Amino acid sequence: MRIVVLTGAGISAESGLRTFRAEDGLWEDHRIEDVATPEAFIRDPALVHRFYNARRAATAQAEPNAAHRALADLAARHELTLVTQNVDDLHERGGSSNVIHMHGELASSLCASCGHRWPSPMETDRKTLCPACGTAAARPDIVWFGEMPYHMEQIWEAIQQAEIFAAIGTSGQVYPAAGFGHQARRSGAHCVELNLDRSAVSRDFHEHLIGPATQIVPEWVGRLG
Ligand code: APR
Repeated sequence: MRIVVLTGAGISAESGLRTFRAEDGLWEDHRIEDVATPEAFIRDPALVHRFYNARRAATAQAEPNAAHRALADLAARHELTLVTQNVDDLHERGGSSNVIHMHGELASSLCASCGHRWPSPMETDRKTLCPACGTAAARPDIVWFGEMPYHMEQIWEAIQQAEIFAAIGTSGQVYPAAGFGHQARRSGAHCVELNLDRSAVSRDFHEHLIGPATQIVPEWVGRLG
């Protein structure tokens, strides 16, 4: 079966990583405009570096959970395209390869001057040098609000060919990812939403599996065979 899975912060919640829009979510402590836009990085780069250093530290403490591992099993039996909005590496540590990180990765740094990418140190700051051009212009390799998500062509193509599309642990509030279900349905895929509660775009899905990801994802993968 050709399957496209989109994951969001909810799949890593039971690994101890905070989601964004929950009552105790990251966006309760930080305004998006202060830490997750190109303008924020120009205005206060030290704050932005500190925010992502903290995310890296939290991710290093976290372990992949049963939902991450179930998706690795799914790939062994089906033609799976795994797209994540998450910037953590829990899919990879849970056994998945070829994960498409559409919103970038904490594990990567990007030179704002020459565009070079390299494995990120655990902590970066305003003085971190680009190993390619030597400029102190390191930024997290994260897609901020107002920037274009990565790998979109490859993702739209996979969605067009998908027989099943599943969205796991995402609130459906951030486009273009929030529009994947709509597009997948139009292209003929059976669309399944797996989430703690209904998302903002749940009407685009044929089927809704409600519950914590560590329970409902392994069950769903088991049913697919
Ligand atoms: N199991 C399943 N779903 C869960 C769980 C869980 N244990 N815990 C929370 N959820 C669900 C919530 O109900 C919510 O619908 O996960 C969703 C998380 O939503 P958000 O916090 O909005 O995260 P996400 O959808 O990944 O955000 C999208 O927004 O801030 C940007 O770039 C950031 O990639 C992120 C994007």
